[in-house]
Amino acid sequence: MKTLVILAHPNIEDSRVNRRWKQELSKYPEEITIHEIYKAYPNWSIDVLKEQKLLEAYNHVIFQFPLYWYSYPPLLKKWLDDVFTHGWAYGSKGDKLKGKKLGIAMSIGDKKENYSPTGSVSFTVDEVIAPFKASAVHVGAIALPYFSVFGASFQASDEDINQSAKEYIQYIFQHK
Ligand SMILES: Cc1cc2nc3c(=O)[nH]c(=O)nc-3n(C[C@H](O)[C@H](O)[C@H](O)COP(=O)(O)O)c2cc1C
Repeated sequence: MKTLVILAHPNIEDSRVNRRWKQELSKYPEEITIHEIYKAYPNWSIDVLKEQKLLEAYNHVIFQFPLYWYSYPPLLKKWLDDVFTHGWAYGSKGDKLKGKKLGIAMSIGDKKENYSPTGSVSFTVDEVIAPFKASAVHVGAIALPYFSVFGASFQASDEDINQSAKEYIQYIFQHK
């Protein structure tokens, strides 16, 4: 069973983490399909039927993105709004995502210790990603544990990022 990675980065050429992760993913073309939505839809006009057909072909889908304002980059939010439609994803006849495994892989700018009730962020990552988990429940999918690298803005070294790229692949294979 192949994995679909929906990759959402508005300027991947300037990215450290997501670009490196993409490079690692691309070593496994038999196992992993990468779909870069900012490249596919530069004008943000999403081909909903095409995206739905793509999703229907996979049981394991990972959303990969940099954390922006404790949330998705805006095109990924629009993609979810447009693609997860009533009658397809939810509602009495909307069962196309039922039972699929959905995960998120995020690069997080801030340090790990700040993501706690007593840290500067005040919330854990699991609390921050509650909208993702609730969405998975709403469509009858299985929300996998998240994968992340912290300190993506400054602290993470090239070595840390290389290491996280290897761990990302393990995460994908582990949760298939
Ligand atoms: C618009 C914007 C919003 C951001 N919001 C957050 C945030 O809410 N929390 C956080 O820890 N980092 C935040 N960051 C830092 C990004 O998560 C970080 O730059 C990114 O993960 C680095 O990944 P990349 O090298 O692939 O671009 C933000 C960055 C930008 C540009």
